[in-house]
Amino acid sequence: MTQAPKKLFIKTYGCQMNVYDSERMAEALGASGYVTTEVQDEADMVLLNTCHIREKAAEKVYSDLGRLRPLKEAKPDLKIGVAGCVAQAEGEEILNRMPLVDLVVGPQSYHRLPEMEARVGQGGRAVDTEFPEDDKFAALKSRPKAKRGPTAFLTVQEGCDKFCAFCVVPYTRGAEVSRPAERIVAEARGLVEAGVREVTLLGQNVNAWHGAEGGLAALVGQLAQIDGLERIRYTTSHPNDMDEALIAAHGHEAKLMPYLHLPVQSGSDRILKAMNRKHTAEEYIRLIERIRAARPDILMTSDFIVGFPGETDADFEATMDLVREVRYGSAFSFKYSPRPGTPAAERKVQVAPEVMDDRLQRLQGLLTQQQRAAQDAMVGRETTVLLEKPGRLPGQMVGKSEHLFAVHVDAPEALRGEIVKVRITEAGPNSLGGTLLA
Ligand code: 5AD
Ligand code: SF4
Repeated sequence: MTQAPKKLFIKTYGCQMNVYDSERMAEALGASGYVTTEVQDEADMVLLNTCHIREKAAEKVYSDLGRLRPLKEAKPDLKIGVAGCVAQAEGEEILNRMPLVDLVVGPQSYHRLPEMEARVGQGGRAVDTEFPEDDKFAALKSRPKAKRGPTAFLTVQEGCDKFCAFCVVPYTRGAEVSRPAERIVAEARGLVEAGVREVTLLGQNVNAWHGAEGGLAALVGQLAQIDGLERIRYTTSHPNDMDEALIAAHGHEAKLMPYLHLPVQSGSDRILKAMNRKHTAEEYIRLIERIRAARPDILMTSDFIVGFPGETDADFEATMDLVREVRYGSAFSFKYSPRPGTPAAERKVQVAPEVMDDRLQRLQGLLTQQQRAAQDAMVGRETTVLLEKPGRLPGQMVGKSEHLFAVHVDAPEALRGEIVKVRITEAGPNSLGGTLLA
């Protein structure tokens, strides 16, 4: 008699790398007889893949765990696991605070999930938050060949050696590690065979990738040779790792999309120094000029932190000035959140919450205006769209443009997974509308 498969529910918090990790964890647990479910209540195992970047994200994990109590009481065999960066940073504390948690696995150890799951099955609890010598990607089996949607993430680099003064990543994800080019190319080929047309290369510091001579530009060049792989993106980059070759690739590599997320965090040199970003506002602006010289229509995006300890009104105005000068396509902005163990959390000059609120509102107002302007500027232009799924209205499909705008197009569902030519005809607050061109 074959056993009914066990069901796995994964909740993913935080960044795209967690989205990728969740897929790989689901695949790893497939070997233990699990299939994924979208319905938490029918799960035999619930795994929270967590984010530690800001306090709010980390605290949400504990409230979500609390909410799992009734389910665990109703189903005592339910296994509950915490994965990701909160697991890494607070492993023991999670077990102490939350008796219902059975296993805790850090982002570098999840290839060991099947053994851990087996241990929990025998009534124990399991914790693994090591940075093991063995590479988890080498230990994970190759990815299943099942048909996939047309876009995929592919982690090429992990960890960070930059130690920005506010950031937990160097502690939760560890030192910078690049996956070897052959493995990445092999994984990309497999994805393309499974139906993928666009890959987004992921890394906390993706443009510091050094898995082969020539850096990320060389990797992009190799991937661009894969037939059937039509679009390449990468995120997230540090300004100091944008080398000449990568800038040039934006000019000559047709498969590299005209979109670049290049966080600057602040426009004040004093704050950039205190953040340990190791570049000035002027250097960042000059860098963007060089990138735009290579690819004039590239859409720039960024992350910003307001209220970093010691940030004055003048510092904040410098950030507003930088935003006005760069003109972003979109951007994320956050209130500074002190993180345990980071140098900035020790600083005495924390900014008052109401000042942070006010600055965040003003910055977001300006960024929204710029986003609208970038969307409006697309109207009338021709672009390509990778159709991903049906839109809201019948007979409509939605996909992403080269500049990563969501675009609604009247098109048959048979075109799903295809890259089509579109003229943009309208810009709404969250997406563009367009018509198919022959
Ligand atoms: N507080 C607020 N925002 C932060 N980020 C990273 N650490 C913090 C923090 N302690 C933001 C940065 C980074 C993005 C992923 O999250 O802007 O680029
Ligand atoms: Fe964190 Fe990015 Fe700075 Fe690395 S470069 S420490 S991941 S903000």
